[in-house]
Amino acid sequence: MKPIQVGLLGIGTVGSGVFNVLARNQDEISRRAGRGIQITMVADLDVERAKAVVGADIQVVNDARAIIANPDIDIVIELIGGYGIARALVLEAIAAGKHVVTANKALLAVHGTEIFAAASAKGVMVAFEAAVAGGIPIIKALREGLTANRIQWLAGIINGTTNFILSEMRSKGLDFDVVLKEAQRLGYAEADPTFDIEGVDAAHKVTLMSAIAFGIPVQFDKAYVEGITKLGAADIKYAEQLGYRIKLLGITKRADKGIELRVHPSLVPSKRLIANVEGAMNAVVVQGDAVGTTLYYGKGAGSEPTASAVIADLVDIARLHTADPEHRVPHLAFQSNTLQGAMDQLPVLPMSEVVTSYYLRLRVADQAGVLAKVTGLLAEAGVSIDAVLQREADEVGGEGSTQTDLIILTHDTREGTMDSVIAQMQALPTVLAPITRIRKEELN
Ligand code: HSE
Repeated sequence: MKPIQVGLLGIGTVGSGVFNVLARNQDEISRRAGRGIQITMVADLDVERAKAVVGADIQVVNDARAIIANPDIDIVIELIGGYGIARALVLEAIAAGKHVVTANKALLAVHGTEIFAAASAKGVMVAFEAAVAGGIPIIKALREGLTANRIQWLAGIINGTTNFILSEMRSKGLDFDVVLKEAQRLGYAEADPTFDIEGVDAAHKVTLMSAIAFGIPVQFDKAYVEGITKLGAADIKYAEQLGYRIKLLGITKRADKGIELRVHPSLVPSKRLIANVEGAMNAVVVQGDAVGTTLYYGKGAGSEPTASAVIADLVDIARLHTADPEHRVPHLAFQSNTLQGAMDQLPVLPMSEVVTSYYLRLRVADQAGVLAKVTGLLAEAGVSIDAVLQREADEVGGEGSTQTDLIILTHDTREGTMDSVIAQMQALPTVLAPITRIRKEELN
């Protein structure tokens, strides 16, 4: 059979990986796909650099639309990134009847509803394994491997940059700013690391997983997003003394009234496997009613790990593109004629309705009755305390003026309740600095 023809938009780190892995493993990949998979055109603004990667036999252009206009191209791989030109090109490729493979989590998390609807109307596939957790086949696992399950929750370390920074902060006892600079010097963090450190990249990824896990539309605008920029070495140290590590988790959960969708730093018991995922590695824990807890671990970024996911999508498309679209695996795991009903029944909950437990750190005056006042406010609101840690007082400001850190772990409570208790505690004259609140996930 004639090889399937692929056009590649953008040949940077991931694109080069796709080209190299396809070339290296072409025999095995063809035997798996049932036919050859050939990149026949590449578009990149830097034509000379692209030619240096792909050689003389492949046509290199600087206009992505030349690929979309080519009737011989069956699949377009979009590796440009961002929401701007990438969105236009993906929609144009779909309109031209091309299948699309993309690693662009931002594009799909924000414009996924429009893109998947266009693809369904045109009868083409949009595959995006590489968009979430790089080389880990988590989309395949959620959409197909776990298809028997009612998924209850999933939680993932899905941003390598922030996991690297948190690992360094913990092992070296350093503050965020110091480690970020070091991560940038070593190339682990981008020159503009905003999307990573503010949790946006992780929120794009958990938004996609949430849609597949629960059969809801992609709704990045409803996700709660909090990054790691305010974390201090002291909180990481206190958490460790209490048996926890702090990880930036993307969490989505089926609750009574809807779906929780959130990214924020979380205390995780040190004994959990996911708490021990260090450096730039990624991991996702999925809890299904039949299978129980499953864990997926691997490289979440990088040239060949991400290429591994892109090529898996190419093979899927090579196998399925002649199938009746009704018989393909749905883009978001659930048949689209069930999507509307699911959306009505399962709203994404506001953060005030999320139920979780908390780590609180209060800088307090070391005076009689302070602990009683603080715990009294928690008791009045019905918030149950799990553990309390108080260090010996520090001398601050000379004789008679001492302060200390008071650490409280709570049991599960509604975030809205916790917000109002924190406001009341903050108003106490003996609470001397802004209260630190970090959510805690037992993941059991
Ligand atoms: N910037 C991401 C990370 C990789 O640090 O994990 C691409 O999603």
